[in-house]
Amino acid sequence: MVRLFSHFQSSVGKKMVIALTGLGLVAYVVFHMLGNLQLFEGPQALNKYAAFLRDIPILLWTVRIGLLSLVVVHIGLAIQLSMRNRRARSVEYTIHRYRQASIASRTMTISGIVLLVFVGFHLLHLTAGVIDLGFSERLDSEGHRDVYGKVVHAFQNPFIVIIYLAGQLGLGLHLSHAISSSLQTMGLERAALNRLLQGLGVAIGLLVVLGNIAIILGVFLGIVH
Ligand code: HEM
Repeated sequence: MVRLFSHFQSSVGKKMVIALTGLGLVAYVVFHMLGNLQLFEGPQALNKYAAFLRDIPILLWTVRIGLLSLVVVHIGLAIQLSMRNRRARSVEYTIHRYRQASIASRTMTISGIVLLVFVGFHLLHLTAGVIDLGFSERLDSEGHRDVYGKVVHAFQNPFIVIIYLAGQLGLGLHLSHAISSSLQTMGLERAALNRLLQGLGVAIGLLVVLGNIAIILGVFLGIVH
């Protein structure tokens, strides 16, 4: 037990926990995007699905507390690790060797911050209804909360569309590096596998972002109304 604890105190241990918590969050984001695509099936499908997610309070709060814990541990350890790395690097580099690193890997901190700000805005907007009070308590003809109406109303507003598209840019950049790097940290690193893992990371990142953009633009362009 003591050995396990001291392993997680090391940089390698912390990297592993960051990778594991990150992969848990990726699973949520994929699941969330697939569920939200039911917007294209119409109000009944999306509102029924949203009601299913909310109707079992124990499930809802387990998921919420689980997600919050993953976010807190993931960000807390990432900050600790980057501070430790900075301290260890006693001499600042004068020449930055960026040739090997992709844009996504160089912008992990900034894309992470953009993502965090976006999620904060998103929760205030669509979950708490603080940004658009009018739609938070509406019911549809079957008595379910009108989540479909809320989403359609949201993406008819060009300002909201711009904020969500910026969020997708942060999400796409973060995921495209994070997935492959997490899988490598988990011990999957082999020379022959590296390219495959990188491709997998970019593919999952693209899939999530394109799915979300389809929802945003589907409404904005009037395909869904
Ligand atoms: C176009 C993209 C997205 C759409 C249309 C969307 C839609 C929604 C909606 C409608 C809700 C509220 C559900 C309800 O009131 O029952 C919600 C909640 C939430 N969304 Fe999103 N979402 C999007 C992207 C994202 C992304 C990228 C993330 C995370 C990175 C995210 C994380 C969350 C979380 C954590 C909740 C709260 C769930 C809860 O109530 O426990 N969403 N989303």
